[in-house]
Order: sequence, then C-alpha cells, then structure tokens
Amino acid sequence: MGSPTTYDALADVYDLMYPPASPDIADAVGFLAELAPEGGRVLELGVGNGRIAIPLAERGLTVHGIDGSEQMLEKLAARDPHGRVTATAADFTTGGTGEQFDLVFIALNTFFAPTSAEAQLQCMQRMREQLAPGGRVVIEAFEPRAFHQQEGEKTSTRYLSPTSVMIDSTHVMRDRQLILVIHTVVDGGVPRPTQEVIRYAWPTEIDLMARIAGLRLVERRGGWRGEAFDANSHRHVSVYEAIEDPK
Ligand SMILES: C[S@@+](CC[C@H](N)C(=O)[O-])C[C@H]1O[C@@H](n2cnc3c(N)ncnc32)[C@H](O)[C@@H]1O
Repeated sequence: MGSPTTYDALADVYDLMYPPASPDIADAVGFLAELAPEGGRVLELGVGNGRIAIPLAERGLTVHGIDGSEQMLEKLAARDPHGRVTATAADFTTGGTGEQFDLVFIALNTFFAPTSAEAQLQCMQRMREQLAPGGRVVIEAFEPRAFHQQEGEKTSTRYLSPTSVMIDSTHVMRDRQLILVIHTVVDGGVPRPTQEVIRYAWPTEIDLMARIAGLRLVERRGGWRGEAFDANSHRHVSVYEAIEDPK
C-alpha cells in the first residue's frame, strides 16, 4: 500500500513490518507458482524488496518487478546480488516493461496505492498490456468493509523488534474510499512519523475495472492457501484472464 515516497521512508523498517520468512509468503509463492508454466515469465507490480519475487525466482521462474521507490529497489538489489529478479524503476500506472508475461501480479494491497479510481484502472490496463496470451493476472487485497465502517481514528501497535514498535493510526474518509495511515516508529530515538494514503476498492469494483481493461474474473479465493472467499473473508486473492476477443 502507499506511494513510492512512503516506501522510500519505510524501506529501512520494511523487513520488520513484513518479515520475509513468514508462512504467508510461502503460501503466496506456492499459489503463484502453480499459475505459471514451468520456467515461465512472471511480473510483479510494486515488487518492493522482493519478499515474494525472490523466492519465485528461486523456483526457476523468470521474474521481473516494477517499483517506483528507489530505496525499496536498493533493498531488493542488496537481497538479490545475483540479479535473479530484473527490476524496472517506474510508476506502474503509467509505465511498464514493454514485455509480456505468463503471470502478472500485484500483492499486499498494492493495487490500493494509486489513490483514485482512474489511476487504479490505469494500473489494471498496464497489467492487461503486459499479459501474454493464455496468461493470468492476480490481485491480493483486503476486503474493505471493516475500514468502511470505521468511525473516527483508530490506533494499533505493531511489533518490530525487541527494542522497537510501530504505532499505526488510521483515519478513513469513507466518501472518497481513502485511508490515511500514520506509521510512527518508536525505537528510543526521535519518533519518525510516515504518512500513507490508500484508496480501497470493493472486490466487485475491481472486477468492473478488470472488465474495462479487457480481463475477466476466473476465480476468487479468501487467501493464498486457496481458502473459500465468503461473507467473512478479510481479504481476497483474485485471478483474471484476458477476454481475448471482446464482442
Ligand atoms: C506494500 S509494498 C509491497 C511490496 C511487495 N510487493 C511485498 O509484498 O512485500 C508496496 C510497494 O509498491 C510500490 N508502489 C506503490 N505505488 C506504486 C506505483 N504507482 N508505481 C510503482 N511502484 C509503486 C511501493 O514503492 C512499494 O515498494
């Protein structure tokens, strides 16, 4: 979630916020690898420090990633000294690789980073353009009802390390489907607040954007383990294919 500028500021603590060795990452890699042919070509939008992209490349897939944050791409390069993931520094709503892939995915709510419906639609169109014939697009995002119902500000604390925590405060602008998050690292030094704004979208709204971009929903799961998506799901993993010849 959040713009490249936000992630430039969070790059140093990102591994503590989202540890790379979590079971969820292993599930994500397993789910995504199943959708690509052996040795196939994969593109991740908002690749960040390569938390998912690097283990996918270790599975023998040819992995490319796009990101607009210089700091996050530096972290990716440090974790991937042999360059198994090819990185492109670009805005994924307006730029791309100029190539096509068997699998194009965007994970961890990064589809919500563009803060207007138009920019999210542009992101969807870029995914469609970079999709090879027979390929799949995958979006992992939260189901927004809990945020949509939120009244006033909420604050939560996230463990980072034995000597640091992150305080996250959220304010929802329901009329614009925007969430303002202030992340503040507390580690004994001067507290460092970083602002993040995201625009949430409903699963059906995302499906409609996909249709406009020439994609249709193939399946929707409640998580990377292939859980059922139902009224209680807090997130979804949605798989799309190209509508080859729209009539
Ligand atoms: C929440 S992080 C996810 C990183 C990685 N996918 C993961 O699962 O750990 C979102 C990433 O998307 C990038 N990003 C957000 N908006 C972007 C945009 N419009 N163009 C390119 N990168 C963007 C940020 O810089 C950040 O690295």
